[in-house]
Amino acid sequence: MLRSPGGNPRHLISAADLTRDDAVLILDTAEEMARVADRPIKKLPTLRGRTVVNLFFEDSTRTRISFEAAAKRLSADVINFSAKGSSVSKGESLKDTALTLEAMGADAVVIRHGSSGAPYRLATSGWIDGAVVNAGDGTHEHPTQALLDAFTIRRRLVGADAGLGKDLDGRRVTIVGDILHSRVARSNVHLLTTLGAQVTLVAPPTLVPVGVERWPCEVSYSLDDVLPASDAVMMLRVQRERMNAAYFPTEREYSRRYGLDGLRMAKMPEHAVVMHPGPMNRGMEITAEVADSGRCTAVEQVANGVSVRMAVLYLLLGGSETALPSAAARTEENK
Ligand code: NCD
Repeated sequence: MLRSPGGNPRHLISAADLTRDDAVLILDTAEEMARVADRPIKKLPTLRGRTVVNLFFEDSTRTRISFEAAAKRLSADVINFSAKGSSVSKGESLKDTALTLEAMGADAVVIRHGSSGAPYRLATSGWIDGAVVNAGDGTHEHPTQALLDAFTIRRRLVGADAGLGKDLDGRRVTIVGDILHSRVARSNVHLLTTLGAQVTLVAPPTLVPVGVERWPCEVSYSLDDVLPASDAVMMLRVQRERMNAAYFPTEREYSRRYGLDGLRMAKMPEHAVVMHPGPMNRGMEITAEVADSGRCTAVEQVANGVSVRMAVLYLLLGGSETALPSAAARTEENK
């Protein structure tokens, strides 16, 4: 998290900014939030009177509604701003939009933008006072996606009550597909390694980013070799909208070498899970058989996303510790 001079977290721009303590605090808080989601009345009064703006310059289904649900469950007012279609040049339009949001009194701005670095610019420009949360910027980062992925792995493989130090230690996570264009892969490599996991990237050589040798992970070109030693296999969408050249011969060739079907899934250890951030291209990187199997956590990831984003908004907007129901209950118990 980017911190204010006083040391308090102000913004969430990049998973690379998170210390292990930060990440564990968010995951543990998300666990408390998930308990709220299991109740008939899913709302907490914590952010009453606060305004959260969803500023989306790029398409989104899951991420936008997830942030909206998270803010509403914390009783914040939510304004959805979809900037798609704007023809103003990027720097100017971002500044003008930011000044408008500031005038409306936004306490937090959740931003998705096609340009890498746009959330950082917003957080450091002085245009707005509120907290900035990166909901995906270009091919750079998508920190809340990585947090919800880590939360899902922890719940499935480690158990919800994992304490500091044993979080994802030694878990082997394989990320497969269009790494080059994936902000999800970048954020996950940073966060999962911070939490102690070993990450392996699998992709055709054309979809591996330049400089990957400086990332804290391994790279393999053979999915079949890596599957038997994976605890979680994260399949990524081929991001055609960010491609202006041919990165592989044909879709069929891609699926044959890098797609996950039932036969390949059978090579994974019995406990291992298949993950996908969505949107899925069924038949391309994942077959329907795998997507619909009990080992695929795609739908669970969406549900977990709400809890994780509640935790992030709660921690950034400075909700008081006792506003968390179980924290309050624990304080009572300790009296
Ligand atoms: C991802 C994104 O937008 O970066 N999706 C998501 O947030 N759930 C991945 C993608 O678009 O393929």
